[in-house]
Amino acid sequence: MRIVLVLSLAAALCAVLFAGPNPKPTPKPRPTKAPVQSSCKAIWLFTTPCAEINSTLIQQVKVFSPNAGCGDCNYLFVSADNVTLTVDHTSADGFGAETISFKFTPSLLAPGCQMFVQSQSIGPTTTTDDAINYCNIYNLLTGSGLDLQPGFLDKTNKWVCPAIALTKCTTQ
Ligand SMILES: *[C@@H]1O[C@H](CO)[C@@H](O)[C@H](O)[C@H]1NC(C)=O
Ligand SMILES: *[C@@H]1O[C@H](CO)[C@@H](O)[C@H](O)[C@H]1NC(C)=O
Repeated sequence: MRIVLVLSLAAALCAVLFAGPNPKPTPKPRPTKAPVQSSCKAIWLFTTPCAEINSTLIQQVKVFSPNAGCGDCNYLFVSADNVTLTVDHTSADGFGAETISFKFTPSLLAPGCQMFVQSQSIGPTTTTDDAINYCNIYNLLTGSGLDLQPGFLDKTNKWVCPAIALTKCTTQ
């Protein structure tokens, strides 16, 4: 009985002496949040005149109109002048709305067109808005086949369009 007590005391002492410093609590990983960015911007370069790109896009907006009955479509022509084509888009769930602008600059040297493209959320935004804004412009691009034009160049990056790295867009 006594021996057992002594042994267990010795064991307890050893445990205290040799336990060493408390291990540091391992830091919890920070929750990774999707980047919150309520717009997507790009520069598109074409070797065809702006007027042609303009009418192809307007045509595609009509094809992707709310009346077309496709889930991701819901594009609405707003206005067009010599410089800017403006289009609205509403999300399939009806909660999000974005405005899309295409600013045309004719190329000076050869027949060609440079475009500043932007989709921007209107009103409150959520973490998924950058994907919506990205898909808004790329669905129009690929839907119209303009991305297949010879000489087409797409200049954007994840700083002005974060969803570019995350998302594959689908037109329905
Ligand atoms: C785009 O087309 C519309 C409608 O025809 C026209 O009013 C506008 O000037 C055109 N814009 C460009 C840049 O060609
Ligand atoms: C658009 O361009 C046409 C032809 O270049 C010109 O006649 C017209 O005045 C321009 N319209 C605007 C609003 O700049």
